[in-house]
Amino acid sequence: MQTIRTIKKMQAVAKLLTVKKKKIGLVPTMGALHEGHLSLIRRAKKAADVVIVSVFVNPAQFGPKEDFKKYPRDEKEDLKKIKKAGGDIVFAPEAAEIYPCDYETYVVLENLPKTLEGEIRPDHFRGVATIVSKLFNITRPDLAVFGMKDYQQAMVIKKMTRDLGFPIRIIIAPTVREEDGLAMSSRNRYFDHIGRWEAVCLFYALRTAREMVKAGIVDTKLITKEMRAVILATCAVAKIDYIAFTEFETLKPVKKVVKNTVCSLAVRLHGVRLIDNMKLI
Ligand code: PAJ
Repeated sequence: MQTIRTIKKMQAVAKLLTVKKKKIGLVPTMGALHEGHLSLIRRAKKAADVVIVSVFVNPAQFGPKEDFKKYPRDEKEDLKKIKKAGGDIVFAPEAAEIYPCDYETYVVLENLPKTLEGEIRPDHFRGVATIVSKLFNITRPDLAVFGMKDYQQAMVIKKMTRDLGFPIRIIIAPTVREEDGLAMSSRNRYFDHIGRWEAVCLFYALRTAREMVKAGIVDTKLITKEMRAVILATCAVAKIDYIAFTEFETLKPVKKVVKNTVCSLAVRLHGVRLIDNMKLI
């Protein structure tokens, strides 16, 4: 497995692979890898000849009060995990390689980032769309794999890819969960014992929503009320940023759950902000 740190080298390697007619799969990450990330690498490996995994904690997608500085970094462990999961090339640039001091070009979507996460993290998706576009140009993939765990991000990237005409197939892979149902996340390692135990409240709430829908209750107001109760019963100190019901690709809010409705939520507990989602039918 090869580790590449510069744009120039990465582009040269990608070009060579393309000339050799190798299908390139890209898995963008910010490192601190867990089973969720590794499942994306395995998914990419199934569809591509060569899998490039990028490891870059992207400063442009963190707000001024967010956890950029304390975001977990463990490159040595990450490299071992990527190799084991079948990654072929790691692209791990320094921040100055991606954003030199005179950097000024950003990719902005007009509408999709305005709801859900975007309401609370105003420039987040500008940072995500910018880095992912750059990674697409640097690694020239045929396909790229993203996790449903970050539902809005996946939809933003799908739309950006279509709008800008990147010739890249976007694959959305399912969320990998811990045994108790908590969605795997690099931020889970911030929790102490009690926090970790209570963090499962997001999953409990989503499971409740799915069960209500199965029982024929589709009114999102009623479901939201029940989900709030479940969260607070599991974690009394939880602060719910939002519980939303939206149409899968457009993120348009729905009042009644129908096929393809996604329920997503963001909750702050014990100083950590978590997101999760589930398709309800
Ligand atoms: P990061 O949070 O490191 O996640 C990298 C990829 O792993 C994303 O596509 C994310 O949705 C996916 N992922 C995270 N947890 C997962 C889980 N439990 N199951 C399945 N997939 C999971 O998302 C980012 O980084 C960044 O925003 C990035 C796209 C790399 C741009 O900087």
